[in-house]
Order: sequence, then C-alpha cells, then structure tokens
Amino acid sequence: MALRKMWLNVNGANRPVVCDPDRDTLADVLRRLGCTGVKVGCAAGQCGACTVLLDGQVVRSCLKRIAQVPDNARVTTIEGIGAPGRLHPLQQAWITYGGVQCGFCTPGFIVSAYALLQQEPAPSRRQVREWFQKQHNLCRCTGYKPLVDAVMAAAAVLRGEKTVADITFRQEGDSIYGSRYPKPTALEKVCGLAEYGEDMALKMPAGTLELALVMTESSHANILAVDTAEAAALPGVVRVITAADVRGTNIAAIPQASPGAAHDGTFKPILCDKKIFRRGDVVAVVAAHTREQARAAAARVRVELEELPPAMDALAALAPDAARIHPETPNVYCTRLLVKGGDTRQIMADAPHVVEGSFHSQREPHLPIEPDVYQAYFDEEGRAVIQCKSQTIYANRATIAPGIGLPEERIRIIQNTTGGSFGYSMNPTGPAIVGVCLLALGQPVNLSLSYAEHMVFSGKRAPCYVNARLACDGAGRIRGLEYSLALEHGAYPETAYKLLERVSRFLGQPYQVPNIRAVLRTVLSNNSFAIQYRGFSAPQGYTPSEALMDMMADELQMDRFEFRYLNLARPGDLNANSAPYHEYPMREMMDLLRPYYQAALERKRREDRPELRRGVGIAWGGYHVSSAFDSCEVELALDPDGGVTHYNTWEQVGQGADIGSLTHTVEALRPLGIRPEQVRLVQNDTALAPNSGPAAGSRSHYMVGRATRDAAEQLLQALRKEDGSYRTYAEQVAAGLPTRFRGRADTLGQAVKMDAATGQGDISPESNYMLTLVEVAVDMQTMKPQVLSGRIVADIGAPGNLLAVEGQAFGGFSHLVGFALSEDYSDDDKHRRTLLGAGIPQILDVPDELELMLHETPRPQGPWGSAGCAEGFQSGGHMAIINAIHDAIGVRIYELPATPEKLRAAWQAQQEGREDRPGPYPLDDDFYAQVDALTAA
Ligand code: FES
Ligand code: FES
Repeated sequence: MALRKMWLNVNGANRPVVCDPDRDTLADVLRRLGCTGVKVGCAAGQCGACTVLLDGQVVRSCLKRIAQVPDNARVTTIEGIGAPGRLHPLQQAWITYGGVQCGFCTPGFIVSAYALLQQEPAPSRRQVREWFQKQHNLCRCTGYKPLVDAVMAAAAVLRGEKTVADITFRQEGDSIYGSRYPKPTALEKVCGLAEYGEDMALKMPAGTLELALVMTESSHANILAVDTAEAAALPGVVRVITAADVRGTNIAAIPQASPGAAHDGTFKPILCDKKIFRRGDVVAVVAAHTREQARAAAARVRVELEELPPAMDALAALAPDAARIHPETPNVYCTRLLVKGGDTRQIMADAPHVVEGSFHSQREPHLPIEPDVYQAYFDEEGRAVIQCKSQTIYANRATIAPGIGLPEERIRIIQNTTGGSFGYSMNPTGPAIVGVCLLALGQPVNLSLSYAEHMVFSGKRAPCYVNARLACDGAGRIRGLEYSLALEHGAYPETAYKLLERVSRFLGQPYQVPNIRAVLRTVLSNNSFAIQYRGFSAPQGYTPSEALMDMMADELQMDRFEFRYLNLARPGDLNANSAPYHEYPMREMMDLLRPYYQAALERKRREDRPELRRGVGIAWGGYHVSSAFDSCEVELALDPDGGVTHYNTWEQVGQGADIGSLTHTVEALRPLGIRPEQVRLVQNDTALAPNSGPAAGSRSHYMVGRATRDAAEQLLQALRKEDGSYRTYAEQVAAGLPTRFRGRADTLGQAVKMDAATGQGDISPESNYMLTLVEVAVDMQTMKPQVLSGRIVADIGAPGNLLAVEGQAFGGFSHLVGFALSEDYSDDDKHRRTLLGAGIPQILDVPDELELMLHETPRPQGPWGSAGCAEGFQSGGHMAIINAIHDAIGVRIYELPATPEKLRAAWQAQQEGREDRPGPYPLDDDFYAQVDALTAA
C-alpha cells in the first residue's frame, strides 16, 4: 500500500496528513484529524452530513477522494466556524430557533449555510431552501422550517440589523415551562463536538476488533451449511462467530402474551442457523483487526441455502397455498374482533348512504441520517457494556440477557448520542449481536453498519391492508363502521398484538361512531419485520378512516370540513373501544381551523389552473399517551454546590429528552429557586440511572414529568426546615439526612387491559389530538403533487417546551409528506436501501409555510397539565395530503404512497371512465361469518 504525505490547511492551521490515496476520502482524513463535526451518514453523497468547504467551495467530503485534493488545500469544517464561547451567529441561531434535534445533520447544514451567506448576505427564504436542496443537505428531524428561520436570523445579525443577543433566548421569570428554552445538548451539536456512535468507534482503544455482518440476499431459505473456513483464513481475521458460539437461547425477543396466537412470538434468532426468514437475517459475524478486513472476510463466508418460496407481503402470506413462515404458527399470527354498539349488518343494509373502499399503507422506513453503530466491552466491574442507539435501554437489556446468556445485572447498556431513530432502535437484535461477539471474543468490539446494511437490518412500519365501509343516515350522521384489516408484521411478530390493539383506536377517531364491527389480524411475511415508528399503528388506522370521511362527505354532497364537524364526538360519546375520549376539545379545534380552511378554499378558487391544479385537504389525527401498567422512575440529587442532578433513562433521540428533563426539574423545584444552569443531567446508562421506561408511546414527557414531581416533592420535604426555608446541601449532610430521592409514577387505575374478545377498554391514561389542513398543487404534466402549506391545530394540554413541540410537529409533518407521497421499502428492492431511494423528503418537498396552533386543554393527571405529543404529529395528517390531491384532480389514491406514476395511472383511468381502485383485499371469505365465528369464540 503506497501512502501519501500531504498538508492540509484545516480551519486556518496547517496540518500534516498521511493518507491512502486509493481509499481515503476527505471525510476519512478530516475525521482522523479529530474533526468530529464532519459526520458521515449515507457515505454516498445524498445527505450532506459531511459537508465542508474546500478552498471555499461546498463539498460533500464523503465523495471527495483525497487523491483529488491538492496539497495545502484550505478546508473549513464546523470547528472552524465557531466554538463554545465564540459561537458564529449561525450556530446561535440554530440553538435558538430549534434547528437542533438529533443534531447529526447540523454541522453539515451550518457549513452549507455559512457558504451561502458569504455569497449572498441577504437571501430570501426561497433562496435558502434552494441552496440546501442544491447542496444535498437532508434533515429527518426538523421539517426544515426551523433551519431556514435560523439562517434568516443569523443573516440579519451578520448584516448588522440584529445583535447576537437579539437571537439568543432570554429567560423571564423563574419558570421555563412552556417556554422556548433551548435544548441543553444543542451547544455541542452546533459546534460539531457531539460524539455519536462512529465518533465513539474512533475513540475505542487499541485491541478493539471490528465486526462485519454476514447477511444473505435470500428472503426465505433453509440453511444447509455455513462454511467459514475461507473467511477465517484471511489476513486480520480473528474469528468468525456463528450461532454455535452463542451462550444463551440465541433469541432476541421476549415472550409476548398475544391472545389467540399459537406461539409466544419468540422467533427472532440473534444469529440464524436453521432458516432465513428475511433478508437482513444475520448468519455470522466476522471479527477482524480492521473494518476492511472484517468486511472482506464477511463476503467470503459461504452460506449454502435451500431456497423456499418467499411471501413478500401479507396478501401472498394469506394465499391458501402459502408456506408457513414459522412452522410453529399459521401466517395469520393473531386475530381479534372489535365490537362497539349493535350489529352493523342491518345498519349497512338499511343506511341510505354507504361508502366503501380498500386501502393500503406501506412499509415505511424510518430513515435516520445516521446508520447504526455499536460498541461492546467489559467495564471495570466485569459488566458487558453495550453502547448503541436505543429507545429502551432497560427493556433491551432484559430482552438480550437470556439470548446472549448473561444475567441482566451483568449487562450495562449506554445510549450513544443518537442521530435519529423515530422508533426503530427499540429493536434489541443489534445489541444482542455485539453482546454475543463480546462474550465469544473476550475483547472489545465495534460494529458499524453501512447505510444499506442499516436499511436491510432494521425494522419498518407495518404495512396495512383494510377493506372498510361507513354508513350514514339521511342527516349525515355516522351510523356504523365495518372493516377487515391485516397488519403485515414481516418475519417476526413481537409487537403484533400491541399493534392490533392500538390500530383499533384510530379507525373512527375522533368521531361519534355508534356501531362498529371489525376483524383485525396480524400476518407474517418474509419481509422486514414491523417495529415501532412514531405514531405506531396510527397511520394505518387513519388512512382508511380519513379517506372514508371525505368519501362520505362527497356522497352526501356536504362540505368535508362540516361533515367532520357534524360527526365529532361530544362529551359522553365513546371512542372506538367503547371508552370515553380523554377530553373533548375537537369542536373548539375545528372552530379554530375553520377560517383557515375557508381561506384555503378561496385561494384554491383563485389560483387553480388547468396545468397546476390546487386542492385543499383536512384530516384528523392524534395519539394516546402511555399505556395501562406503565411505570417510570427517576432520581433527583441535591449537589454540594446547590445544584441538582437528575438521573433518568429518558432516551434522547433528538426529540427533547434533555430539555424535557431539565424543564420538569426546574418546574418541580421552583420552591428551591433552582435555575436551569444548575441542573445536571445523567441519562441513559443502566449503571447510573433508574428505569424510566421506553422513549415511546408519547409517554416520556408524561411519565418522567410525574416521576420528577414525585422525586422533587420528596426532596423538598426532606430539605424543609420548620420555618419553611430549605436546608443547604451542607446542612442536610450535617444533619445526617439523605440528599438523593427516587421518584416514581405509574398508570395503575388510569387505564385497563383491552378486552381480548371485544376490543373494548381504554388502554391509555391520556390522549392528544391533531387536526391538519394542507394545500397541494398537482403539476398535470409531471403529475407530481407539491404540498404548498401545512397548518396543524393540536391539543396536547400544556406544552412543556415550545421548541420541542414544534420540532415534533414540523419534523412529523415532513415524515407525513414522505408517507403520503414517496416513502416505501421492501427487502427485495435494492433501490430502496438509500435515503433518496426510499423516498426521504428533501427541503423543497416540505412546505415552508408550516404552522402549529396550540389549543390548550389542561390534562388534570398530566404533569403541569400536559399530555405527551410526539406521535400525534405523525398519525393522520398524511391523509390531509391524500385528500387534498383528491380535491385537486378528483382522483383518490387508495394505496400509498401517491407517486406521480400512480396519479397518472389513476387520472388516465378516470379520463377513460374506467374504475381504477384496489380490492377488496382477500382478507376473509365472508366478513360476517368471520365476525360470528370470533363472537362465538
Ligand atoms: Fe456525505 Fe451523506 S453526503 S455522508
Ligand atoms: Fe437533522 Fe436530526 S436534526 S437529522
């Protein structure tokens, strides 16, 4: 190997570099120089996380071969733009305007914006957006609008029209609850100092082995032999680890109670030895001294397979001749009935108005910008430490312990700083694999997945097939709803029953639907397994529900807004699970939105043109918060300097676990006068903080807040003197009294287990509600829909932090755009293994005209009147886009996403007077017979 010695001027300093001109990219070299602000996400020129300036030009350093970089070239990275104590206005603006969520994209965006403002000191918002599009800067978290806000604010400072103080948050009063107080982790992220998984990999000590996964391209096969001999003999290879090396059960799942299922769901092998259930199943792992050696050897592991016919979707798996995916269970993993009110068959027969349709929502990929990276090593206390992305570190620990063969207490999971997750890192398989390798090798290991590997390895949102119909009386009031639904859970069914329970809440929400009969099932396939994703189960429910509402309004020739308004649930009305709704803010929310809806219709009338058709769409959304039997623990400790340390495992994935914890602490300890800068956060390490539960189900703000309040009450009580003042730390210690308290919250008595026979029962203690209005334009030449504006009315109780709430709203909206228009994934489609190939929205796909309007109904049981918010923002809003497309061109898309190709086909069919709609899907031979059978059972 011939290396090259060269000099680079990095951020003004001349740095000597020795590089491999055949292999190194500029990003590789800069990262070796310690520039942690140069992030590598896609490594393929799509995401812009690696953006730097090379001799003043914006480049994606992952694409720039070092051989093409001249000696003494000038390179500017984020570290050269500003640092703590001397922030550039762009960095300050990113902090203040909510530009930082996970922060993985942040350095690349700021470098890109820095170059723009050098060329154009007074850009318009449109110019900023076009610049980011041109420079390939992708963000999955923010919805882009806050980033444009930040550039505009920083530009004003650089022009001298504002000061840095003007764009810096100023706290007023002693409460930060409901304020725009910035995230405490934002500073290191805007400076490129936050260290994510791959940054930790670079810092691992000598002796750390690199791992590479052996995955096949088969979707369904028996494994006849795994020959590791050739791979093991390659230079640098230490060992090839297979299922034979696993000390435990080799299962990365815990038993699930799924009524009606033939098995407890513990199918997912850590390392496969008998069968491949899907692409992405791991057969072996190569450990070598370098990553290149490990990857080269992984390609030489020979896996002899007996191919089996794959069922790549639920319909194929339901076919009468489909092979069983897991011999222990039918492909229909579990089935349940939903019963509300009276029998619907007569209602359907008698109703003057019935609309029906078949609807499919797709396998949505999460698309974080950062792919997965894991480390594993033994710590000083002999614990197996696993550093990874995880939204549920305690549950992951409990799940992998029997699988890898180590007691829970000897496993320590630490969440690495995380470049986006949105749910997929609930999956314990990655932590289990590195745990197995650590135990087999006895040496520290690192596993870094490429983006394509991440896509194949990780779970996705469950696709859903629904046949549904809705009945109304002559006055336009809903009388009944029937549906048959199949959620495709892919190869492994761990969340199957939870999905079924939850999806049943959303068909018909938030309306008064007096009578419902539904058959719901989860179906296995040989495709990617279903996993949590923001809005878990909600988009699958709102897709048919909000389409039917528009269809019925059209059938009745009523305004679509007013039809919904007429049918909203009122106090006393029951939800789909025959339980009261949590609060009834729906009418007020629609009243708030009505003038904007009417203005949008007026704009449509004014601006609709034959070549660019405009449409207006609305859709309800919302999600439940927490669940029955939920619990959460946190600890607060008074520190010697009078500050407070908050210990919890509210996993930080960019959503605001840091600012949430800080806000709750300051609010709960207001009697002590604790200022935000006096609060230290110790989070997401099972050795250091108690079990706060998963960062999922919109529960964290709600549960951590309540547990924090409990801990704070104990601390205040312990510190309180007789005169009502509070002891200092020194006084407390001198008095021999404790300074650290564990707070607890649970939902006992607030929710119940859903009845397995009827689907009745309220499984969550709280809910939020979202109503979305969008305007779209469809280009009739290209048939490409463009979302022009989005307005969300939300009721989440009393918001804890406005930047975090807006972050979820706008970020969630960008996912809605992708879900409605472009995103999709299937294991057998290689094109879908990249960010752009999977349909991630770029900045020009997401409207800049995006507004969140909060309607505040205090939640009596929530912390400071609050419910959680995250998932509601990615629940039903995508249907506003689909409905708006229908409003624009009269074509309804039943199977998401609404790509230009589908729109063109549907439009042509409509022009030719042909019926072009799917279904009914072959889910049951006879719906009523199925209902009767389940009722009898
Ligand atoms: Fe370089 Fe994505 S563009 S890492
Ligand atoms: Fe942009 Fe997470 S903040 S990708």
